[in-house]
Amino acid sequence: MWSPALLLVLSTVVLPASAAIVKEGSTCIVTPVSETPAAVVLRSVGALALEERDLNPEDDPATENDLWAAVDDPYADPKPGFPGALGHYPRPKPGPASSLPARREVRREPLGPQDSPLNIRQSQPDDTPQILSAFSQCGKDGTIIFKEGTYHIRQVMDTTDLRNVSVEIHGTFLWSADNLSYWRQRSFSVTYAGRQTAWRLGGRDISVRGFGKAVFDGNGQTWIDLAKGQGNLNGRPISLTVWYGTNVFIDGITWRMAQFWHTFIAHSQNVTMTNLDMNTFSTSGQSSVNTDGTNTWNSKDITISNWTVKCGDDCIGVKGNSSNVHVSNVVCHESGAMTIGSIGSNAGQPDYVENIVFENITAIHSSNAAWIKTYPGTGYVRNVTFRNIHFEDVNQPIYVTSCIYSYQNCDSSRLKISDIRWQNITGTSRYNVAVGMHCSASTPCDGFHFENIDIKPKNGGTSKILCSNIKNQASMGLQCTGSCPGSHPQQLSGNV
Ligand SMILES: *[C@@H]1O[C@H](CO)[C@@H](O)[C@H](O)[C@H]1NC(C)=O
Ligand SMILES: *[C@@H]1O[C@H](CO)[C@@H](O)[C@H](O)[C@H]1NC(C)=O
Ligand SMILES: *[C@@H]1O[C@H](CO)[C@@H](O)[C@H](O)[C@H]1NC(C)=O
Ligand SMILES: *[C@@H]1O[C@H](CO)[C@@H](O)[C@H](O)[C@H]1NC(C)=O
Ligand SMILES: *[C@@H]1O[C@H](CO)[C@@H](O)[C@H](O)[C@H]1NC(C)=O
Ligand SMILES: *[C@@H]1O[C@H](CO)[C@@H](O)[C@H](O)[C@H]1NC(C)=O
Ligand SMILES: *[C@@H]1O[C@H](CO)[C@@H](O)[C@H](O)[C@H]1NC(C)=O
Ligand SMILES: *[C@@H]1O[C@H](CO)[C@@H](O)[C@H](O)[C@H]1NC(C)=O
Repeated sequence: MWSPALLLVLSTVVLPASAAIVKEGSTCIVTPVSETPAAVVLRSVGALALEERDLNPEDDPATENDLWAAVDDPYADPKPGFPGALGHYPRPKPGPASSLPARREVRREPLGPQDSPLNIRQSQPDDTPQILSAFSQCGKDGTIIFKEGTYHIRQVMDTTDLRNVSVEIHGTFLWSADNLSYWRQRSFSVTYAGRQTAWRLGGRDISVRGFGKAVFDGNGQTWIDLAKGQGNLNGRPISLTVWYGTNVFIDGITWRMAQFWHTFIAHSQNVTMTNLDMNTFSTSGQSSVNTDGTNTWNSKDITISNWTVKCGDDCIGVKGNSSNVHVSNVVCHESGAMTIGSIGSNAGQPDYVENIVFENITAIHSSNAAWIKTYPGTGYVRNVTFRNIHFEDVNQPIYVTSCIYSYQNCDSSRLKISDIRWQNITGTSRYNVAVGMHCSASTPCDGFHFENIDIKPKNGGTSKILCSNIKNQASMGLQCTGSCPGSHPQQLSGNV
């Protein structure tokens, strides 16, 4: 048996914080600090709790509330004071999502001599310094390989000057949650709606591949419990933001319990994100609001394909100034499915959205399926196609509004919605409304086109199709059954 004294010496002498990078030419090979040979030797004698989560049960998130009272944010989506996108949305007990692998079990090693300084120090390893070091050493014309194991991330990461780099992740990135004040103070601004992010990734010619093995775990339940259902809690960080990125490829990563939105694509061009699996769903009874799969903003040439998302908010959101976005083969559970918006929140700043295709999308027990929501603002949404969309039990499958959240000034919006196609849209609605569309009277919608729409209320009966202010209503290929008032809500709570 090794003596505690020897372990202490080993830990201080053999385990410097960033001993785990090996550089071979332009390739950096990284091992988690807790998986370095010396640490593994230590673990083998049973002294360390190496895989302990970065959670401190004595740190009650509730005590942070006073410090961080949410401010009224005009960009907030949803707007404070109004129900969240899914706030009033009846949902079943979260069950196992058939296609999703179980959340990684946390392995707990038996603790060694209690209270030894070694245990205290080693229970919170931090891999951030060596991750950032690998990006700075090999982030230009290089390759970074993260080997298997758990990387504890206790600090924000800004890796925005990358160029021609291949990042290969075989392990788990686990974001700490024992100091939420830290994340709320230090996360980077992404400008949009005052939001922040824990990791900004940008530059040119970047690939980040997870081979279906990489797991990003944001300890999201802690954030959900802190937010207590409040939308856009200040400082609650987006997991990963592609920030001023050009030619970015992200593939094969599994997210479990993201802190806030899983991903955000901002000020970027030519971004492809494929084969991603996201699951952030509350088990505590607090709603998992703001756990969107992704949002695009001020970006173009985006390809999203082969995603499975289970979250409590929008699945794929296309926000202002997004163009050429192609989304295909996505399955959304419990989420807002495909949404354009919200956009137009600032009447002085136009928002433009064009050339968007959503196809082969499945939505299961989600809020809406194929929807467009704008504030009474300026700009346009044009040339959008929703095709081959299938769903089960969604609140209001097709929804268009010119005055989201406030339901005021609906008819004075100058944000033009035109040239929108819904083709092959089939499934069941939760209530008796298949389609609710209120466009602005002063700037009517135009060029709406419907083809092969088959939506049935899940409990039988006939569907209503409510329409107001659509210029080509007579020729759009869908028979309206009545008009749609500006106050028609995005989420229904019963038949109308
Ligand atoms: C990209 O980096 C690799 C090394 O990882 C190098 O071989 C290649 O020449 C670089 N490509 C360009 C266009 O610089
Ligand atoms: C939490 O983070 C804040 C901000 O960085 C820091 O001032 C504080 O010391 C940290 N608290 C603990 C317990 O680490
Ligand atoms: C777009 O990015 C991909 C990498 O995802 C790259 O292969 C392709 O060449 C880029 N396209 C252009 C036009 O640069
Ligand atoms: C999508 O998934 C299918 C089935 O796993 C696979 O064959 C296809 O290559 C994937 N597409 C992309 C773009 O990765
Ligand atoms: C969208 O782009 C336009 C024109 O480039 C710009 O004036 C506007 O500020 C942008 N809107 C937002 C919300 O960033
Ligand atoms: C509409 O969008 C599609 C898909 O992005 C694109 O191929 C097409 O050229 C666009 N049409 C117009 C008129 O811009
Ligand atoms: C949509 O799904 C069909 C049938 O599964 C498939 O043949 C087609 O390639 C898919 N389209 C895209 C764009 O992935
Ligand atoms: C609609 O679905 C039918 C049958 O699956 C298919 O033949 C047709 O191509 C689809 N239309 C579009 C616009 O994708």
